[in-house]
Amino acid sequence: MTAKRIIIVHGGAWNIPNSLIDLHKAAVAESASIGMKMLTNGGSSIDAVESAVRSMEDKVFFNAGKGAARNSEGELELDAMIMDGATLKAGGVAAVKNIFHPITLARRVMELTDHVLIVGDGARKFARKCGIVEQRIEDLLSRDEAKLYDELNSKPATVKKLFAGDTVGAVAIDVDGNITAGTSTGGLSGKLPGRVGDTPLPGCGAYADNQSGGVSATGWGEAITRVVLSKHACDLMVKGVSSQEACEAAVGMLAQKVKGWGGLIGIDAKGGLGVAYNTGRMARAFLTEEMNTPKPSV
Ligand code: GLY
Repeated sequence: MTAKRIIIVHGGAWNIPNSLIDLHKAAVAESASIGMKMLTNGGSSIDAVESAVRSMEDKVFFNAGKGAARNSEGELELDAMIMDGATLKAGGVAAVKNIFHPITLARRVMELTDHVLIVGDGARKFARKCGIVEQRIEDLLSRDEAKLYDELNSKPATVKKLFAGDTVGAVAIDVDGNITAGTSTGGLSGKLPGRVGDTPLPGCGAYADNQSGGVSATGWGEAITRVVLSKHACDLMVKGVSSQEACEAAVGMLAQKVKGWGGLIGIDAKGGLGVAYNTGRMARAFLTEEMNTPKPSV
């Protein structure tokens, strides 16, 4: 049996200022298109999620990859995770430095090791083994990107980065009905070195199970982790609750139980889409194989 190919992506839930709305909309639309192209060219949902997230890790205005928030010592420490709903295998990396596509490293963990999560220096060594080249952020940014990056990171929280809301993520279902979810982040701005949030933890920052669906989370990582938010939404979906209702219920539970904030995107096993957030805005876009262009919203 063949399934309808679908991808949904997010660029974070936070109070995105008016000045950044167009950039965010264009970037999530591009990410969804890249993921769908992978799916229509015969790629798996793992390929689609990885490529969609990589495109957002390349944007300096998202808190992931090149645009990641800095820790209290001014360093970038990145977290990412990917999970395959067909096998329940997951791979994650945490507190990695100088690897600007941590979603790809997370995929290598899932596919090349028996582990679920590799952190810090170990992740760096593993990256080297996989042939993933370490880079310095200074060498990666174009002049325009460096200007925008400095502007966004030097301004107070009203513009960006006191929180972790602009984490990125994607969920996709491929022609075989396999569901994958992935998430990537720089974490909290000003975090203690070594701090790890929800993003690389299966069930917290993302979860996927073909029996229920897939979910990717964004927002305040400590709160999301304490309620295992993404698994909570999937557990509702397995009972037949739609993705939309499950995402809404999970975000409601996050606020009610731990005063958490953030957002979720999801796809249930029937291909139903879900989006919920309790922040001012959330950048997201989806694309089904029947659509010509993605539908971005902020
Ligand atoms: N949600 C991303 C983080 O808190 O690290």
